[in-house]
Amino acid sequence: MTNVSKFTIVGGGSSYTPELIDGLIQQQDEIQIDNLVLYDIDAERQQWVCGMIERQFRYAGLPTRVMATTGLQQAVEDAEFIVSQIRVGKMPARVLDEKIPLKYNLLGQETTGPGGTFKAWRTIPASLEIAEAVARYAPAAWYLNFTNPSGIVTEALFKHSSVKVIGLCDNPINAQFTIALALGVRQEQVYLEWMGMNHVNWIRRVLIDGVNVTHRVMDLIEAKENARLNYRFPTDIELIRALDVLPNFYLQYYYHHPRITALRQLEPQTRGEIVMELEKVLFAAYRDPKQMVKPAKLGQRGGAMYSKAAIPLIVSIAQDRRDVQSVVTRNNGAISDFPDDAAVEVPCVIGKHGAFPLHMGSLPQTIRGLAEHVKAWESLTVQAGVTGSRLDALAAMNANPLVPSLDTARQVMDELMAAHSSYLPQFFPG
Ligand code: G6P
Ligand code: MN
Repeated sequence: MTNVSKFTIVGGGSSYTPELIDGLIQQQDEIQIDNLVLYDIDAERQQWVCGMIERQFRYAGLPTRVMATTGLQQAVEDAEFIVSQIRVGKMPARVLDEKIPLKYNLLGQETTGPGGTFKAWRTIPASLEIAEAVARYAPAAWYLNFTNPSGIVTEALFKHSSVKVIGLCDNPINAQFTIALALGVRQEQVYLEWMGMNHVNWIRRVLIDGVNVTHRVMDLIEAKENARLNYRFPTDIELIRALDVLPNFYLQYYYHHPRITALRQLEPQTRGEIVMELEKVLFAAYRDPKQMVKPAKLGQRGGAMYSKAAIPLIVSIAQDRRDVQSVVTRNNGAISDFPDDAAVEVPCVIGKHGAFPLHMGSLPQTIRGLAEHVKAWESLTVQAGVTGSRLDALAAMNANPLVPSLDTARQVMDELMAAHSSYLPQFFPG
């Protein structure tokens, strides 16, 4: 059993917070928190969430003390674990990332393409500011970054701060869970050779009890009998077989870019607009003194299972378990095609040391080109996000595989720059 004296959630006012608390309650035999601190710049929303999670803990009979603050120093000081889940500019900024690229026949998506680039640029300065406070007031803390785009933000933190950071996403655990269900085995039996970057990764092999069942999973995808499996692996099956690896959910946006963009252009609402409506219902539930548990509606958010990724990670660090989990870490040679200081998402040994990546070797040739292309975009996006240089920004936008020309890069960038200017201090100082 792990006892954590202080655990801080940065972006405490997020509608996701009750999911993390629900995970803590479910795994109370593994982990107990003495002091849970919420930090947010939106005090009102955070109060609603704070009330909700106090009821969750009380209803579960747990003694965890809960506090909400808008003071960064107070929030992070002496924390053992800090989870970051911020969204600079909130949902309205996401909706702009989704809508503006569509005008240029580019996908509008919060972690991919031009929208993902701008989400990174809004988020990097805020994340580095938080990291500076962590470095000063809680230098021993583990900083677990859920904030999207998780791979890019984590790389910015590796390169430009001294905090102990691990990047996190629910995709690996969700994929493991989905494949286990489809194959009728326990989740612990499934081992995925997960390689690439956050949201841009491929499963090279699926192993069950050491046996390679990758082609069986492909057969199941082709059979279309398991809706959950087909949702998670939506890429065209012939393409999957040609690549001979399983592309992550988000790779549909690369492999089927024109088709998906055309579909999005026809949809009446973007995902961000749908989430805004959902959040109205969620926050109403959080304000309701009779609501004692995580509302079922939270299951409609993409990250509905994120505590299943976060809590095992925290437990394994705290207990020095040295088990294997796929997280975002500094490459250090794990993928031999990438620089050492690039962020990658690969299976890692997790313990008190943090996350040691397993050596994955070189990427299969069928995916290496795209992977290197996306990696270049990510690293250039980090660079521009820190320097605030227009030329660095243009280089990054042009390096995105979805952006077809430098002309288009400049047009979409200029429109997004103007739309988001108030959240981009590095590009618009003063
Ligand atoms: C998945 C991704 C997250 C992302 C979420 C979006 O969980 O891994 O990185 O934030 O989906 O969900 P939403 O409900 O905001 O569309
Ligand atoms: Mn994710």
